[in-house]
Amino acid sequence: MEKKKDNVISLQNVIANVAMLDLVKQVRELRDQQREMCEMAVKTMLRALDAKDNYTYGHSMRVAFYSVTLGQELGLNPEEMYELEMSALFHDIGKIGVPDAVLMKPARLTEEEFLKMKAHPSMTAEILTDFKYFQDIATYAKHHHERYDGRGYPDGLAGENIPLFSRIILIADTFDAMTSTRPYRKGLPYEVAFSELEEFSGSQFDPELVKHFIKAMTKEDSKGVETFELKIVEGVFAKDAA
Ligand SMILES: [Fe+2]
Repeated sequence: MEKKKDNVISLQNVIANVAMLDLVKQVRELRDQQREMCEMAVKTMLRALDAKDNYTYGHSMRVAFYSVTLGQELGLNPEEMYELEMSALFHDIGKIGVPDAVLMKPARLTEEEFLKMKAHPSMTAEILTDFKYFQDIATYAKHHHERYDGRGYPDGLAGENIPLFSRIILIADTFDAMTSTRPYRKGLPYEVAFSELEEFSGSQFDPELVKHFIKAMTKEDSKGVETFELKIVEGVFAKDAA
């Protein structure tokens, strides 16, 4: 009698385990589907950015690559790496709202034009505002022009009050702005860009992150590979923006 009862209990356990495994599988499938939908949304928005300004599109790819290179050096986990890549891809999406005459101007911006340009991080957050899945990403993108000394924008956050991913993106962003070649000037060599980052380490940039970035990029550069790949956006991109 006792044995029969044991058998019933173990059968119930097996059924419960199978049901649980099935539920886990369903949750995983749902998560994968949700992720796929999000990635489609990311690619669509990036295509819109590409149609508006091809340079900023390429810049966003490189900033994502430099950001994940630093993220890897910091030992971020796969979930964090995914979020970091996503935030970096999106960091300048708000430039869709900046007038072409300002965005494409090859000369120095007037004060009024600069104010319009400065609105782009907040605009990024605004564009993403209704997409629930992107709320953290919107925050990281919004703060990618905050300075370590608190003199950045839009909120004047300082030090560790600036989200880590925003501090990473700022370094990657500035590095690309210095090293990429534009029609009106040649990009700086890595070594020169590294010393610029060091010079503004502690004022503009997080000093610890600058050290890790230089180490990671030196390692990356020594591989002698001319291209890079990104996880979220499929494709091979040239490191040299010329
Ligand atoms: Fe920006």
